[in-house]
Amino acid sequence: MSAQVIEMETIPSIEIETTKESKLSKIDFDNMPFGKTFSDHMLICEYYDGKWQTAKIQPYQNISLSPACNVFHYGQAIFEGMKAYYKADESGIVLFRPKKNLERLNKSAHRMSMPEVPESLFMDGINKLIELDKDFIPKTAGSSLYIRPFLIGTEPFIGVRTSDRYLFMVIIGPTGPYYGEAISVLVHDTYIRATKGGYGSAKAAGNYAGTLYPVELAKKMGYKDVLWLDGEHKKYANEVGTMNIFFVIDGKLVTPNTDGSILEGITRDSIITIARDLGYTVEERPIDIEEIIAAHETGKLTEMFGTGTAAVVNPINRFGYKGKDYLLDDTAFVIAPRVKTALVNIQKCIDQDKFGWITTVI
Ligand code: COI
Repeated sequence: MSAQVIEMETIPSIEIETTKESKLSKIDFDNMPFGKTFSDHMLICEYYDGKWQTAKIQPYQNISLSPACNVFHYGQAIFEGMKAYYKADESGIVLFRPKKNLERLNKSAHRMSMPEVPESLFMDGINKLIELDKDFIPKTAGSSLYIRPFLIGTEPFIGVRTSDRYLFMVIIGPTGPYYGEAISVLVHDTYIRATKGGYGSAKAAGNYAGTLYPVELAKKMGYKDVLWLDGEHKKYANEVGTMNIFFVIDGKLVTPNTDGSILEGITRDSIITIARDLGYTVEERPIDIEEIIAAHETGKLTEMFGTGTAAVVNPINRFGYKGKDYLLDDTAFVIAPRVKTALVNIQKCIDQDKFGWITTVI
């Protein structure tokens, strides 16, 4: 193992231990389903005695934890999703709005009573990890390097209280699109994902765990995923769990306002900005499912799509509600492909970064 220490500004250092045997030659860049392939290295940093310890980049490997850790019992676990891209001309590697991910991670940390991750640990750690594993970044259109930072409570204690030990880690891997095609969603009127006053806007593992069973039910009914309604009235569109939701009604883009129960998506925010810049009207407001159905019946609902880091902009061509299916022709969508292209062209540095969203890694 070769080891070197890179001096950092505000965290002590990052110790680097490189792998003896790279997995790169085994990666099939023509077949990269989301979330199954990881690069050679990972970032790991412990928090205890009230402070962050020395961060390490080490070969990707299993970790060993006490079975009494908080994360296994009370679920102090939050994460982020971000992506690195090769510029289209392959002249460098960039990240898309990484500081927004850090900001959201630390908002999630606050809500879940966890310590904030310092900017230097997050940014320098991720940059260094990407630099080391840059050959895992796919160059083909529609592909990128997915980055999964996460933070878990690791104190070995089974009393119900905030952990006093944590582990911050980042794993990365090449990926293609999350869905890769238009999807169908079931509008669940029985189960809910989150409600105001809960922690729906935190990117917390528990928000996803609670959706797995209803999503399985939806899959058995022939839908790909679930469009959640709000927890209080079970009538306002919330999000798709993997994505924020957008509708095109009467030529206007309409998306649920961030009320604390939906994820404050960075792709959501980028699409709103891009759409407004392209001259579209965007309304952020509560959207009653009955309004969606009425708009569908009168032909005013012309598009429906989800946005997310993993999913990018993904068309929805069917939704089911109370035993009835509503179809949309995604091949006739206009706004979704237009805003998607504008977003991807910024991410791949094809178009000018007029909003200042791009950060260079190397
Ligand atoms: C992402 O889009 O990066 C996410 O974290 C959503 C995930 C559940 C696939």
